[in-house]
Amino acid sequence: MEIIPQSSTIGAEIRGLDISVGLSDQQFEQVNQAFLDYQIIFFRDQQLSPQQYNDFALRFGQLKDYLFADGIDGFPFITEIVKTETETQSFGSFWHSDSAYMELPPKITMLYARQVPAQGGDTLFADMYAAYDELSPGLKATLERLNAVNSASVVPRDEDIYAAVKSKNSDKSDQSAVHPVIRTHDETGKKSFYVNSIHTLGFEGMTREESLPLLNYLFEQVTRPEYSFRLRWAENTLAMWDNRCTQHYALNDYHGHRRVMHRIIVEGEHP
Ligand code: SIN
Repeated sequence: MEIIPQSSTIGAEIRGLDISVGLSDQQFEQVNQAFLDYQIIFFRDQQLSPQQYNDFALRFGQLKDYLFADGIDGFPFITEIVKTETETQSFGSFWHSDSAYMELPPKITMLYARQVPAQGGDTLFADMYAAYDELSPGLKATLERLNAVNSASVVPRDEDIYAAVKSKNSDKSDQSAVHPVIRTHDETGKKSFYVNSIHTLGFEGMTREESLPLLNYLFEQVTRPEYSFRLRWAENTLAMWDNRCTQHYALNDYHGHRRVMHRIIVEGEHP
């Protein structure tokens, strides 16, 4: 197995593994360590049936039902994310970490590329450890005392962000959860900030207007190119990222083309 880092801070390609035949315990340990070290890892040219994909994901923990979409036939935890040739809206085209509005947000999201445009439709990832590390000691100390309210309903623009996937629970779009602004990773012990521009409504005990100046400063940090890695998809690429310490952004730059991804989320701890 070979680990090829993709930037100085985040992202690695794993080569030399065929996920369809299953991983030995030693291979699993190596993959899991690379995942913790690089935060987003990916594997090219994997020929996986839904069962093999599901089995691989299960090695990392309990699979979680996605609140707004049903699974594909026979696989309740594999959600299909499709943007067709005629649609203009795409899912996840904002900087965010997944489902921060849940009490137990997923620790891992996996995406398996079934069909991708020849160009476009890349996903950007940002390293939230690095973004946190660069904050001043004074700001870190201030943020350490704060919690944030995260809601499924907060959208900075006038859009339905779930339109591309929504098949159930439309009435739950006010689902919300309060989480610390600074979270400590339950496996690495490292700190990162855990607020994002589509789910974080404001700081607990403050209005959105009062919260926004500081939140906007943090949202800006997420977009700094120094912290980012851009994944160019190809069919049969499988990626998995750590939602505890990254944010991501699905580029919506491929109108007129079809993109089909199979997504699995793995349950995490309380942030
Ligand atoms: C997501 O936000 O989970 C989907 C990202 C993507 O489709 O690239």
